[in-house]
Amino acid sequence: MTVDLLLGLQWGDEGKGKIVDVLTSKYDIIARFQGGPNAGHTLEFDGIKHVLRTIPSGIFHQSAINIIGNGVVIDPVVFQKELEGLEKFNIDIKSRLLISRKAHLILPTHRLLDAASETAKGKAKIGSTLKGIGPTYMDKTGRNGIRVGDIELADFKERYRALADKHEAMIAFHDVNLQYNLPEMEEEFFAAVEVLRSLQIIDSEEYLNQAMKANKSILAEGAQGSLLDIDFGTYPFVTSSNTTAAGACTGLGIAPNRVKNVFGIFKAYTTRVGSGPFPTELHNEIGQKMAEIGREFGSVTGRARRCGWLDLVALKYAIQINGVTELYMMKGDVLSGFDSIDVCTGYEYKGEVISHLPYNIEEENVKPVFVTKKGWQSDISDIKDYNALPQELIDYVSFIEAEVGVPVRIVSVGPDRTQTIIK
Ligand code: IMP
Repeated sequence: MTVDLLLGLQWGDEGKGKIVDVLTSKYDIIARFQGGPNAGHTLEFDGIKHVLRTIPSGIFHQSAINIIGNGVVIDPVVFQKELEGLEKFNIDIKSRLLISRKAHLILPTHRLLDAASETAKGKAKIGSTLKGIGPTYMDKTGRNGIRVGDIELADFKERYRALADKHEAMIAFHDVNLQYNLPEMEEEFFAAVEVLRSLQIIDSEEYLNQAMKANKSILAEGAQGSLLDIDFGTYPFVTSSNTTAAGACTGLGIAPNRVKNVFGIFKAYTTRVGSGPFPTELHNEIGQKMAEIGREFGSVTGRARRCGWLDLVALKYAIQINGVTELYMMKGDVLSGFDSIDVCTGYEYKGEVISHLPYNIEEENVKPVFVTKKGWQSDISDIKDYNALPQELIDYVSFIEAEVGVPVRIVSVGPDRTQTIIK
């Protein structure tokens, strides 16, 4: 059997958690392939709101196996807290959650290094979630990292010490007067490593390939969004992993020819948290209204998200890089009550209008070109049938489909599982 991918097409926070949860009943296995606790996948059902950080969003379904793949970076301390948050749901974690031996560990000093590096950057800071993601992937590509499989080795503590000592020297080099109590952080870390050790640690690439041979269906769950991809995002204001389709192959050990459907998730408008260019950002009351109605605050850091109109130039770019086969539009309900809705269809760039993403999309280089669509006023959050949606919203969706050439299959009209209209 083949693998389907589910990816965010913007700057993250598109609502991937909700959609994985909605789709899980169709799959035997849900696998996360990159990122780590910088992600906050929010799910709402039965009046409960839950945020997942490292654990795949299929964990709430009785039948699915959830895999944390080799491309993910795991902070045992955050992971332990995440498990504690799941206790009340009575999930059989030991049989339903499997962790790759090859996933890298986020050490306490990775978190400290992230903070020291961001502080040292001053105004040029990335706006990182400060979860240690960048330093951990740096150690991975620098071939210095510690992996989950290493906790099974006799010399794990020595390996830990050598790397942590090196990190402390690097923190001192940044010279930012960072205050911390490492022994306390280490105590918490090693206790959390024991929790990790008590779970099923596996060779996940082998498991997944055997599962495909046994005709099991697999959904690979992406984190962050395509415009935060280390290669194709708005570098350097990106995360440190490949958030795009190729990342699912390297982050799970799945061959490209096994990938079938690529589901691309986007919001009906655009948001971004942290620094970096954002051509359609609204610095006015319209942006504030979007933020308020859409409750646009980061689920990990609580930071206010920047808001703006939908950018079809960026969306088309993400669709192309990922080979998206169908689109899911989230938060359609947030646009109710706007008199008109702008959609960016091109950029003014060096005296001409272009419809592709240039190397540099800083404000001084590109100016968005908008098409204005008519808004709708009614509350759509209880609508279940696509044809019962306001005509203006149906027109908005048709316009997007015509521009990007890929069908929109789902329109989400609220955070709950049940507020999902399948077209
Ligand atoms: P880092 O991955 O924590 O280093 O953060 C790098 C950039 O990616 C920052 O601008 C973050 O705000 C952004 N980022 C990281 N993870 C997420 C996410 O899950 N949603 C949205 N933005 C994210």
